[in-house]
Amino acid sequence: MAGIAFGGDYNPEQWPREVQEEDVRLMREAGVTMVSLGIFAWALLEPAEGRYEFGWLDEVVDRLHAAGIAVNLGTPTAAPPPWFSLKHPDSRPVTREGRRVGTGGREHACSSHPAFRHATAELVSRLAQRYGDHPAVVMWHVHNEYGAPLGECYCEASVAAFREWLKVRYATLDALNHAWGTTFWGQHYGDWAEIDAPRWSHTVVNPAQRLDYARFANDEHRGHYLLQKELLTGKPVTTNFAGTVNCKSMDLWTWAGDVDVIANDHYLDAERPDNHIHLAMSADLSRSLAGGGPWLLMEHSTGAVNWQRWGVAKRPGEMRRNSLAHVARGSDAVMFFQWRASRFGAEKFHSAMVPHAGTDSALWRDVVRLGAEVGRLAEVAGSRVSAEVAIVWDWESYWALELDWRPSTELRFLERVEAYYAALWREHVTVDFVHPSADISGYRLVVAPSAYLLTEGSAKNLQRYVEDGGSLVVSYFSGIVNEHDTIHPGAYPGVLREVLGLSVEEFHPLRDDETVALGRPDGVGRIWSERVRPAGARTVQSFATGPDAGHAAVTRHNLGAGVAWYIATAPDDLRELLAEIVVRAGVTRPGELPDALEMVERGPYVFLINHADAAAPVPGVVGADLISGAPFTGEVPAGGVCVVRTP
Ligand code: GLA
Repeated sequence: MAGIAFGGDYNPEQWPREVQEEDVRLMREAGVTMVSLGIFAWALLEPAEGRYEFGWLDEVVDRLHAAGIAVNLGTPTAAPPPWFSLKHPDSRPVTREGRRVGTGGREHACSSHPAFRHATAELVSRLAQRYGDHPAVVMWHVHNEYGAPLGECYCEASVAAFREWLKVRYATLDALNHAWGTTFWGQHYGDWAEIDAPRWSHTVVNPAQRLDYARFANDEHRGHYLLQKELLTGKPVTTNFAGTVNCKSMDLWTWAGDVDVIANDHYLDAERPDNHIHLAMSADLSRSLAGGGPWLLMEHSTGAVNWQRWGVAKRPGEMRRNSLAHVARGSDAVMFFQWRASRFGAEKFHSAMVPHAGTDSALWRDVVRLGAEVGRLAEVAGSRVSAEVAIVWDWESYWALELDWRPSTELRFLERVEAYYAALWREHVTVDFVHPSADISGYRLVVAPSAYLLTEGSAKNLQRYVEDGGSLVVSYFSGIVNEHDTIHPGAYPGVLREVLGLSVEEFHPLRDDETVALGRPDGVGRIWSERVRPAGARTVQSFATGPDAGHAAVTRHNLGAGVAWYIATAPDDLRELLAEIVVRAGVTRPGELPDALEMVERGPYVFLINHADAAAPVPGVVGADLISGAPFTGEVPAGGVCVVRTP
């Protein structure tokens, strides 16, 4: 497809034919170029086992095609039909607590279950055959949001598959016993059949076993995806990620190579005043999964969602800012859930492109306007965003850190990553996310905010980066354990001692309202304090109060041609500290900009998104504004967006 795709999930099966016909007229009015179709339609396509009814879908696909609207065709495996669940009651997933999931919702079949895999292949091969060559179909949309809401399944089929997975991973029980540290609490295994899933128990279950179960569950969902991908030849295949930042259960680095294009769903968190920063983070992580190239925003909302505490409608201009911020950060699509608001079912209070109020509404007018603007951005498609700063992001570390019995329950992966990301966002610095083992040599600055689990190989990667001239920032409680949640030998932070030029003797986690003063005016640290013992590193800031008063809180270590910083608490003024580090690392930054002005360069296009209620001056940017069609005036209107094509 040329240009930036515009459209949404389309569920015509909920509507009579007159409405479906009106849909296509309205889609043209709004500039819709692509819809995602059939995502939950299994029971309508195969109402009884082996009885297929494709006629209605043929009609919809043909009608869309006649109107020049492309189809992103769903495989409806996220909604197994009632006949399937009745025939295979044991295909319904079991939670860690041992509750079997009921029907009547969606996502109620286990990805490992042989009957589910069989039924999936039967249906998907027919869809491939029937629609694979249809000129309207431009892409396959497999399943829906793997891993959400249920990442891990604890049914019998899963346990059997887990044992096979372990045999491949460890080959021998000796290797498994060693990796899992089963001498602790006498958990030694003498037979593969003795191994169970790490079910809920009244005390803590072996953390290495839990980590492996998380990896296994990720691989099982991927297996179910790959089974479909193999059948869907001829067109690009993707699956929509359940929010790159929010979908904890899937290690999306492992998925990135399996999809032909990265597709992400993103919803604002209504409780957060900084949700536009969270949006940017999700988009940057999507682009990073895409290796810096374009990706697709497969779902977001025109307004309120119906699954949060408050279904907050977007303020005027907010949808537009949201959509274009995704494009700024590399998306070649602006897609919504969903086209027309449902009248019944679980999501009837969810916003849509066509609201219940109909076309005589501000929301519809905004959708039509946005469609036209997205059309004007066609030339942006395919261009790339490049960043000089990277944040280390590793799902395995996310999983491991948040298992039970850590030194503090306030140690949360996202909390630290978001703190660093937000500080850099406010400094107008665009960041990529990287796996700790990735090639990071091209970045001026790499930040590892919450790298609790770090393999020896990854730690060496970070060290080499510094020795070769890079600048590294590491936050507390990083480099502590290996891939089996086993503590690296010697003092903390085992594999990072050398690069950071220090060791940590004792942790002093802070209680809820406890803070420590830092040795710079008004400096305050929260969550964490610890006894740092520099061994080569220089102290930049010290703790002034608290259990580590008089000892290092922030250090800097020159190593080889580079420098490694360590931050041993959660400073309130992280932004100030990072601003200094960014400057020292030689990161290119725009001149003075208002705080709430988001500026991202995508190829020759400068996206300027003003999140404030006052106009924002942006000196130094010259060129045509693709949105207004006129030369950029040097000022972004209050709440407005400009996309400037620079010479
Ligand atoms: C998810 C799903 C959609 C829909 C939206 C609602 O992203 O993929 O089917 O339920 O949430 O926000």
